Amino acid sequence: MGQIVQIFDTTLRDGEQSPGCSMNREEKMRMAQQLERLRVDVIEAGFPIASDGDFEGVQAIARTVRGCAVAGLARAVRADIDRAWQALRDAERPRIHTFIATSDIHMTHKLHKSRAQVLADAVDAVRYARSLCPDVEFSCEDASRSDIDFLCEIVEAAIAAGATVINLPDTVGYALPAEYGEMFASIRKRVTNVGAAVLSAHCHNDLGLAVANSIAAIEAGARQVECTVNGIGERAGNAALEEIVMAIATRTERLHVATGVHTEEIYRASKLLSTLTGMLVQRNKAIVGANAFAHEAGIHQDGVLKSAITYEIMTPQSVGIRHSTLVLGKHSGRHALKARFAELGYDLTQDELERSYRAFCALADQKKEVYDEELIAILDDQDAPASEVYHLEGFHVSTGTSLRPTATVELRQGDQRFIDSATGDGPVDAAYRAIERITGTMGKLTEYSLKSVSLGHDTVGEAFIRVEIDGVLYNGRAASTDIVTGSVVAYLGALNRALASHQSRLRRRQPVTEEV
Ligand code: KIV
Ligand code: ZN
Repeated sequence: MGQIVQIFDTTLRDGEQSPGCSMNREEKMRMAQQLERLRVDVIEAGFPIASDGDFEGVQAIARTVRGCAVAGLARAVRADIDRAWQALRDAERPRIHTFIATSDIHMTHKLHKSRAQVLADAVDAVRYARSLCPDVEFSCEDASRSDIDFLCEIVEAAIAAGATVINLPDTVGYALPAEYGEMFASIRKRVTNVGAAVLSAHCHNDLGLAVANSIAAIEAGARQVECTVNGIGERAGNAALEEIVMAIATRTERLHVATGVHTEEIYRASKLLSTLTGMLVQRNKAIVGANAFAHEAGIHQDGVLKSAITYEIMTPQSVGIRHSTLVLGKHSGRHALKARFAELGYDLTQDELERSYRAFCALADQKKEVYDEELIAILDDQDAPASEVYHLEGFHVSTGTSLRPTATVELRQGDQRFIDSATGDGPVDAAYRAIERITGTMGKLTEYSLKSVSLGHDTVGEAFIRVEIDGVLYNGRAASTDIVTGSVVAYLGALNRALASHQSRLRRRQPVTEEV
């Protein structure tokens, strides 16, 4: 099997800070719990100095997660390191991750600092972080475009100051695999104390090479890789966790390394992230896309039927994709439902089962067969934010080719009921306008998508929307066999979130710059 490569997951930091991927505290916690089930080695939970919300998210994860190290990001300044440590100190295995840019481009144009100043800042940051925490990672931002002599010098100094992990990011996704591998080889050859730290790769996907570069780094001796679920992250994203882990699992005879990841949890992690962020994966995405294990060409199907090994290099089961043999319908009871969820990897509490069963019965009344994807959508729906300011009592729409689409919506807030009507470009637009009239809150719709969850005319449609209110983005999602209902519930969900977080909006994230 060979040596272990540690999986450092940065979905909740580098992934979450990219546009369209933001998550609230509860969502981050749910994702962290799934990462724990996935058995990643390190969860980078956020950037505590960035905002109170980030700090609280990191702290909550640090206090809850067991079995994985929890890291928080900090620039190479003491104020950042103090804040990171406050958030992390209760973790079972805390790690402070401090960084500074080491390329001439960044030092000149962004930091306005000389090499000597950057070296001094790095040493001070690592030494200070080590005085607080036994595990300290130091990253040389833009390492792949840094001068190799300076890189060797600063890495050696950081290790001497106490860094336990040295991360060499390809921050702008510029490196080619051989070149990125050579950088690791040079560091291993030239840095005298390199054996005292673990070398780490962190790749961005601007040229579509993030996973290839990460694998090249492993071949050159990196024993930690930083990655995100579904490859979310800045610009074109980070290296995709599922691709790196399955490349290692599938080609272990060639790479001579392994990971401790529980690969059967990969699909669930991917689905959960898509549900939480609304960031869907393309159908042909490696490992987790809808087509990743679908053999369409006749020759391929024939081969797979004769022997799966002909065209299948890994099984769908190995990443947690299970195919149903049993279809549930309106005569299925709680027992069958619980068993099906267990097969899908969801261990429901009695309360969750009860709520799922009620939703399942309502769905089974509308359609003959309920598919696995629809069961998962039922669960995801229950995870909708608890912050319900307005409850949807009901709505009515009239639409057609010859009449102006009109909607009447009834909402309840506590004991008060509100009813209003509006016209619009279509039934969804009309309903949204009626909701806005009642709530007095106007959202600018920045994203709206409808996706069928399974097959057939009567499939459940999943609506995902993102609205901007006062410069903040709020997500809403809902699944229903009726697309107007799904769209209305999703929109109201987003407005409810905005209304509920009115207070916390005052503490909204401020952009973090390098000048401290
Ligand atoms: O891409 C990068 O350089 C980073 C560092 C902060 C590790 O995300
Ligand atoms: Zn990054």
